[in-house]
Amino acid sequence: MQIPFVNLKAQYETLKDEVAEAIRGILDSARFIGGDAVALFEKDFAAYCQVRYARGVANGTDALHLALRALGIGHGDEVITTANTFIATAAAIVATGARPVFVDIDPDTHTIDPTMIERALTSHTRAIIPVHIFGQPAEMDAIKEIARRRAIYVIEDAAQAHGAEYQGVRTGALGDIACFSFYPAKNLGCYGDGGAITTNTSAIAERIARLRDHGRTTHYTHAEIGFNSRLDALQAAVLRVKLRRLDDWNASRRRAAQWYAAELAQSGIKTPFVRQGSAHVYHLYVIETDKRDSMQSKLEEAGVETGIHYPLPLHLQPAFHYLGYKRGDLPCCEATAARLLSLPMFPELGRDQVRRIGTVARAVTEQGVHKELVIQTNSRAPVRADGAEVWR
Ligand SMILES: Cc1ncc(COP(=O)(O)O)c(C=O)c1O
Repeated sequence: MQIPFVNLKAQYETLKDEVAEAIRGILDSARFIGGDAVALFEKDFAAYCQVRYARGVANGTDALHLALRALGIGHGDEVITTANTFIATAAAIVATGARPVFVDIDPDTHTIDPTMIERALTSHTRAIIPVHIFGQPAEMDAIKEIARRRAIYVIEDAAQAHGAEYQGVRTGALGDIACFSFYPAKNLGCYGDGGAITTNTSAIAERIARLRDHGRTTHYTHAEIGFNSRLDALQAAVLRVKLRRLDDWNASRRRAAQWYAAELAQSGIKTPFVRQGSAHVYHLYVIETDKRDSMQSKLEEAGVETGIHYPLPLHLQPAFHYLGYKRGDLPCCEATAARLLSLPMFPELGRDQVRRIGTVARAVTEQGVHKELVIQTNSRAPVRADGAEVWR
């Protein structure tokens, strides 16, 4: 049985006709940039995120870059973020001329640790970018409280968390601006590159709309130097079709996560920990094990594709050497990077497939002293014997 890491074909099969019709509508209209398709998707996506404004952009990296620029962040400024994220989060900070400041993560949720944010604040700090990593919102109350006290901005990196919730509030509505990616494999993905920002502030929405379109105020009047970073109409039309199914897909991901938790209970493998009051959308299903490399090999031999998110934390990436970080600076990030393993996760994943993955994973842990080690190193993140999600 071959089990892919994600299966975009299976999803496409379920919406082929609707997508074809939506695409045909755009081709017939010959309106490929902007137009109704983009405006309607922006309206739908804002409503979904429970905010006043959404603005489509070319991809998630640009969403972050333009969000920072819209807030006037640039040279001489510092922006605090996590080192356990995709490089785009920090690359967007660098693109503005600002300096990324990396802080450590919470060992249970792998999201940014608010106590570490406090220590990293300086007089140059202008914003915090918490990343809702793997599909779980960061600890937003604590982060927003720090931002409020210091009068700095909070920009959500929600690229992996469409539809996730924190204390009943959806991602996209948890900070001053939120940034989404619609890369095909995301929970809400298009058929190419795409992204969006959401906000409740009209001035920010207007500035993003200008920055994404060459700083235009009229067709040939440019109030500032902007960028070409528009969401195209074909992608917007596809996204509108897919948005209607997002909640069902997220529910299927949660169901698969429960199956995994049941399979891996009492195996010594640390399964995802869900913070109380949070709704995780499992963009990735990330386990922790001391036997990561052998487990990945065994799963590969068994035809199961896996991933590692992320093998090298950002503060240790060659591209950020100039920032002066060294190994040991962010111990939790560094320790978990060697233990994380992402198992297949997509809405169409079946019970039998999860059973098979569980059998192979358990066989690896049952081969030695692994259980004991894991229990000692993970005392803050117990897994309930029945495999149910653990709430803190
Ligand atoms: C956490 C995070 N931030 C930002 C991005 C960038 O999004 P995009 O690939 O659409 O530019 C991604 C996408 O992979 C991501 O996972």
